[in-house]
Amino acid sequence: MIKQISAFAIATVLHVGAASAQEMKAFEVDEDVAFAMKLWTVLESEKFVGPNRIHAQPFEGNPPHGGIQQVLGTDVNVDGRTVRVLVKANHGGEGISVESVYDNPNKNLGAYTVMFKRENGYDDENQNWFWAKYNAKGELDKNPKGAKIAGHFVKGAEKGCIACHTATGGADLKTLTEK
Ligand code: HEC
Repeated sequence: MIKQISAFAIATVLHVGAASAQEMKAFEVDEDVAFAMKLWTVLESEKFVGPNRIHAQPFEGNPPHGGIQQVLGTDVNVDGRTVRVLVKANHGGEGISVESVYDNPNKNLGAYTVMFKRENGYDDENQNWFWAKYNAKGELDKNPKGAKIAGHFVKGAEKGCIACHTATGGADLKTLTEK
């Protein structure tokens, strides 16, 4: 079943510091990068990403995600486990609007940010979400230190997927886990 997830609002502007170079490097894990590539293949074949994906209604979002977004919350089977996945298509660029994304959903697609529910023990304290950021072609984006963004990213750092999602209320780290 596919349904659109409503956005939760940023209540405050966050003040975040940069993690050290050493910390940043440690975040790229070969297994996570490999898993992210496998996940992309499945998401693409299910039409949750890629130019022929199912198009959720675009809406206006908040930074750092695209100014206009499409979000799918659905279930997907990876490695024999059928679990929750949230796929956000982030659109940016000049003159972008809900209408322009609706009319041409691939023109200004900047990135896909994905949360996928891993098995227990993967990252229990953050509800076992696997985080990844891909470009429109399915290549993993990199953080400023050159580490590919895939895994429980960037766990323990002041800045990154988990830090911000927790700070903004962490609703998706809790309530969106139910199917
Ligand atoms: C600075 C804060 C911040 C950072 C960093 C961040 N997010 Fe988000 N994210 C949000 C907010 C706020 C929302 C709610 C929708 C909106 O308004 O953008 C959201 C929504 C999402 C959603 C849609 C599901 C939902 O809960 O609404 C996904 C998927 C997602 N983020 C993935 C990621 C991934 C993957 C990363 C890291 C590459 C990341 N986010 C980094 C703030 C952040």
